Amino acid sequence: MANTGNGFEPEITAFICIYCADMAADIAGALHIQYPANVKLVKMPCTGKTDAQYILDAFEHGADGVYVVGCPIGNCHHVRGNERARMRVKKTKKLLDEIGLGGERLAMYFVSGGMGETFAHAAEEMTERIRALGPSPLRELQGEPS
Ligand code: FES
Repeated sequence: MANTGNGFEPEITAFICIYCADMAADIAGALHIQYPANVKLVKMPCTGKTDAQYILDAFEHGADGVYVVGCPIGNCHHVRGNERARMRVKKTKKLLDEIGLGGERLAMYFVSGGMGETFAHAAEEMTERIRALGPSPLRELQGEPS
């Protein structure tokens, strides 16, 4: 886990589609828009490929927070993949609440390819949110130091 000083620095996994979201990440990079290094990007052919198991696996492998970034509604290159992802994220948030991990550790964002700033903002927002929430309860269960 990344740690600066005495503060908790969360590990965050972002599932991003290779179209709009990845392009927005590239734009952020090209424009030198900084966003927290806490975020590990996992590229997906479309957010419609993201299911609850991927999200749970990310938590199991040490993520303190997870988010999904897809194309804007109506602009998915696979037609309705982002809508399916939105529905799965909603259901998985409920599941996270039920198992005690907390649904607020999961979010979904929508960006178009040119929205580098919005992409960076999502990374900042999630990092701040998870920083405030603290380490994933799963870390303790797995015997990891938090
Ligand atoms: Fe981007 Fe489907 S291709 S969310």
